Amino acid sequence: MQSRVALVTGGTGGIGTSIVKRLAQMGHKVATNYRDEAKGRAWQAQLKEQGIDVTIAHGDVSSAEHAETLIRDIERQIGPVDILVNNAGITRDSTFHRMTSEQWSDVIGTNLNSCFNVTRPVIEGMRERKWGRIVQISSINGQKGQYGQANYAAAKAGMHGFTISLAQENAKFGITVNTVSPGYIATDMVMAVPEDVRNKIVAQIPTGRLGTPEEIAYAVSFFVPDEAGWITGANLSANGGQYMGW
Ligand code: CAA
Ligand code: NAP
Repeated sequence: MQSRVALVTGGTGGIGTSIVKRLAQMGHKVATNYRDEAKGRAWQAQLKEQGIDVTIAHGDVSSAEHAETLIRDIERQIGPVDILVNNAGITRDSTFHRMTSEQWSDVIGTNLNSCFNVTRPVIEGMRERKWGRIVQISSINGQKGQYGQANYAAAKAGMHGFTISLAQENAKFGITVNTVSPGYIATDMVMAVPEDVRNKIVAQIPTGRLGTPEEIAYAVSFFVPDEAGWITGANLSANGGQYMGW
C-alpha cells in the first residue's frame, strides 16, 4: 500500500484522535490542526509516546483564511494532502425558539462552512494528481433530526449534500467523496449532554451502549484504500442501529 498524506481536522478530539491513529497505523503520514498551541503540542507528545508521529499546524477551520494557511503549512511540512477527513465540529444545542443567531452561525461555520474552507485548497491538487479521498464526518442527527439541534442537524445534513455533489464532479479524477454518519459516541461532545437526557438516548440504541471512537475510525478507514475506488457518494451509518433509514 502506498503511503499518503492525510489531514484530519479536529484530530485532537475524541473521534479525531482515533481516526488519526488508525490512518497512521495504515502507514499514512497524518496531520491535524490545533487552535491552542500548548494543547496541540501536549496532544502531539502524548501520541508520540504511543509511537505515532503526527504533524500539527495552527488553524480554525471556520475561517477560510486560516484553512488556506493550514493547508499550505501542512504541504510545506509533509507534502500535498491526498486524504482529507472533515471531522472538526461543535454543538450549541438549544430548542429553536430560544436559539441565538450566534448559536446558529457558530455551528454552521464550524461544521459546514469548514467543508468549503478546508476542501477548496486541496481539491485542485487532488485533481491534478488524479487521486484523492475526502470523508465528511456527519451525524445520525443530520439524517433523522434531533430535538434541540436545528443548527447542528442542518449543518450535518448539508455535509452530505456537499459529499454527493463533490462525488459527481470529481469521480473522473480518481477522487472519492463519502460521508460517515456516527450515532452517539462516548466523547466529550456527548458527555456534555445532561446525564438524564443522555440515559434516555442510550435507551433508544439497539446495541444498548454508546459507540466508541475506534468504531468510527474503522468506518472512515473503509473508504481510504485503492480497492474502495468504486465507492463514492455513499453515506455510511455507524450508529448501533439507532437509525436505519436508507
Ligand atoms: N423529544 C420530545 N420532547 C423532548 C425531547 C425529545 N427528544 N427532549 C426534550 N423534550 C422536552 C422535555 O420533555 C421537556 O418537556 P416539558 O417542558 O413538557 O417537561 C422540554 O422538551 C424541555 O426539555 P429540557 O428540560 O431538557 O429543556 P432545556 O431547554 O433545558 O434543554 C435541550 C433542551 C438543550 C434540547 C436538551 O434537552 C438537550 O440537551 N437535549 C439533547 C440534545 C442532543 O441529543 N444533543 C446531541 C449532542 S451530541 C451530538 O450532537 C453528537 C451527535 O452527532 C450524535
Ligand atoms: P470533540 O471531542 O469535541 O472534538 C472536536 C474537535 O474539533 C476538537 O479537536 C476541536 O478542537 C475541533 N474543533 C472544534 N472547532 C474547531 C474549529 N473552529 N477549528 C478547528 N478545529 C475545531 O468531538 P467529537 O465527538 O470527537 O466529534 C468529532 C466530529 O464527529 C464532529 O464533527 C461531531 O459533530 C461528529 N460527531 C460526533 C458524534 C459523537 O457522538 N461524539 C456523533 C456524530 C458525529 P479544539 O480542542 O480546538 O476545540
